[in-house]
Amino acid sequence: MTKLQAAKTPIIHIEALHKSFGPLEVLKGITLSAAEGQVICILGSSGSGKSTLLRCVNLLEQPQSGQITVDGETVGFGNSFDVTNAAEKRRRIQRIRTATGMVFQNFHLWSHKTVLQNVIEAPIHVLGLSRDEAISDAESLLEKVGLLDKRDQYPAMLSGGQQQRAAIARALAMKPRVLLFDEPTSALDPELVGEVLKVIRDLAQEGRTMLVVTHEVGFAREVADRIIFLHQGVIEEDGPPAEVFGNSTSARFRQFISRVS
Ligand SMILES: Nc1ncnc2c1ncn2[C@@H]1O[C@H](COP(=O)(O)OP(=O)(O)O)[C@@H](O)[C@H]1O
Ligand SMILES: [Mg+2]
Repeated sequence: MTKLQAAKTPIIHIEALHKSFGPLEVLKGITLSAAEGQVICILGSSGSGKSTLLRCVNLLEQPQSGQITVDGETVGFGNSFDVTNAAEKRRRIQRIRTATGMVFQNFHLWSHKTVLQNVIEAPIHVLGLSRDEAISDAESLLEKVGLLDKRDQYPAMLSGGQQQRAAIARALAMKPRVLLFDEPTSALDPELVGEVLKVIRDLAQEGRTMLVVTHEVGFAREVADRIIFLHQGVIEEDGPPAEVFGNSTSARFRQFISRVS
């Protein structure tokens, strides 16, 4: 493979993804690729399927049909895609979960563990790191997100912005190939939004591949390489920010933007 081809190989590829909850079809055939280092911001009204899409990418939800590839590992669902035996499929699902770090709106930290314990737990138990290695990694990650001085505090002692930064450090500790953010600042008081967006902006500048669901339109415009607008379970817009914000022909997108900005 030439260097150019390697650069173009997508690190995430989602093909014809369908997800329903009972009779409700939430994702109606999503096809999407992300190149290594790309930052994709996903916009869309409440209920459009943004969280479901992220949850399918890291296989917290099982789609009805379609295919998901992350970092060379492919898992298929439904008749036309599901070609592997059950044991192999479980192995691939585990690999994809480990390769995709998720950051949730409500942080999801363990309240009975300190910040440091939150960060080292999975690297020790899932990646098999020694406690010393895990602590050393965790300390540099906490320093990176500006929380080293809070390492021995419990989440309840921290502000929302600090808790979310701890959650980002915890996701990074698993050395994921892709980071998935689901409205990471929506639960924060307005004055705490900036400190979390700064950490995400720094990660973008490091060249991390990220899918970020957000209502922070100004942030998306500035940081994203690409904007995706999800509407009722389909991709309604997909392109570079300047193009999507400047020239969108979608009345639904323009209406969405006029409501959130
Ligand atoms: N576990 C679930 N069971 C049933 N319906 C769900 C479930 N999760 C999400 N939904 C429904 O799927 C639709 C899309 O939800 P979601 O992906 O959370 O949207 P968004 O994140 O864009 O607000 C909504 O109608 C929601 O009620
Ligand atoms: Mg959501």
